Amino acid sequence: MTKMIDPSTLVLFGASGNLSRVKLMPGLFRLDAAGRLHDDMKILSVGRGEVPLEAWRADIKGMLDAKFKGGYDQKVYERFIARNHYHANPPSDPDAFNKLRDKLADERVFPQNLAYFLSVRPTDFATIVEQLAGVGLVDETNYWRRVLIEKPFGTDLPSAQALQAALTKHLKESQIYRIDHYLGKSAVQNVMLTRFTNAILEPLWNNEYIDHVQITNNETLGVGDRTTFYDATGALRDMFQSHLLQTLAMVAMEKPKDLQPESIRAEKIKLLESIRPIDVSNMDKQAFRAQYAAGRVCVGDGHGENVPGYLEELKRDGVDASNTETYAAAKLFIDNPRWKGVPFYVRTAKRMHEGNTAIAVRFKKAPMLLNDNQHQNWLIINIQPRECIKIEIESKIPGLDIATRTISVDAPQRQADDESIDSYETLLLNLMAGDASQYLHINEVLAQWRLVDPIVKTWASDTRAVHQYIAGSRDPLESKVIFENEDQFWRYSIELGGDKH
Ligand code: BG6
Repeated sequence: MTKMIDPSTLVLFGASGNLSRVKLMPGLFRLDAAGRLHDDMKILSVGRGEVPLEAWRADIKGMLDAKFKGGYDQKVYERFIARNHYHANPPSDPDAFNKLRDKLADERVFPQNLAYFLSVRPTDFATIVEQLAGVGLVDETNYWRRVLIEKPFGTDLPSAQALQAALTKHLKESQIYRIDHYLGKSAVQNVMLTRFTNAILEPLWNNEYIDHVQITNNETLGVGDRTTFYDATGALRDMFQSHLLQTLAMVAMEKPKDLQPESIRAEKIKLLESIRPIDVSNMDKQAFRAQYAAGRVCVGDGHGENVPGYLEELKRDGVDASNTETYAAAKLFIDNPRWKGVPFYVRTAKRMHEGNTAIAVRFKKAPMLLNDNQHQNWLIINIQPRECIKIEIESKIPGLDIATRTISVDAPQRQADDESIDSYETLLLNLMAGDASQYLHINEVLAQWRLVDPIVKTWASDTRAVHQYIAGSRDPLESKVIFENEDQFWRYSIELGGDKH
């Protein structure tokens, strides 16, 4: 289904920041090249400093040159660059938003449907919306007005509620687009479609056949130069709170009644609200945290690289001690008939032996067991770096004896000439098309904080030394405490044998 796009102006706050340089401008360029932008669509970049238009356009050219090293179509470039305008909004100017309104009022240049992309510090979200509202720029009497809020939406339940209260003084829920870039990933969208457009999965997708589910995001990267942000955030809030819980919602939600944004989000809300928050008294058995110590990780070209531990990186930046987790894992249960009793193990970690994001479903024991160690079936939906679906099944070893071995059926989801689309391209397009299905409803965000807050609070007040794992290693064995059964543990790889330890 091709999306219908109205003419609109995208007003980009934080346009000279990293996200804009690396993802947004190149993403908008690619949408233009693919013929997905309305002919009249304009981009108004808003920054703090005065920058002449020609200098700003030269800066954008630099962003494109850096991204598309193999070059790009000159005609598309000229069309794209002509869409771009700049507006200086110095924080010290009390008249700044009046000037923005006056600039946007020129209908010959700027279509009056306005999408604001707030790629700014989270503490500025509410202030910007208030100021836009103050000059009438979110009023929808004649045109639509939408506001995209980058992550994080709050840092806990009370702050998310406070931000929501500040935004809804001026905006309706339908005007707010809360981002989680995982929802823009084609492989994450594919989870729902794989489940519901195939007859073979749905009958098995429940507690009668599924033993447990693992949802994993592992990275080989460390925290890099983001120590200040990361140390105040931790793996649980950085990755688990939204990216992983959203992935879990895709795996476990009921079928939406149709593909309308509200129907999809209603099912995700129901699911997220039926995940049981971890009781403080069970925390040690259901949640586990750790920090990476110095070690050796595999870099892109397959070579090893020695890397410092998290605490050493903090020390370099003047912080002496920290209990912030770079590895976070939890066991969650969903209180509904489909999933009663099925553990969902969710983990995310930096500086692991490999970078991979996957959903791995282990099925229960088969009706015929040839021996006690017979391998249980796995279905793996791999999100990145490879997009594929794998099934591990038992199959007879050809020969005179009755014995089986495990074989892996590996189906790449991506074919050679498929488009490769960055999640921000999808999300930008949907913002302009008014499709909020891949954005978060406030009730999803609040449900996610309700699940994460008790863990964050317990860990914050726990002064025991945090477990250390060596950078580049597999999961710490100590994380076994969260597993229900002796025969369950993390898969360390999606390859055959990746569940053997
Ligand atoms: C971001 C986190 O939201 O997601 C980062 O802040 C993390 O710490 C990143 O590295 C992972 O995203 P992706 O798309 O590379 O899996």
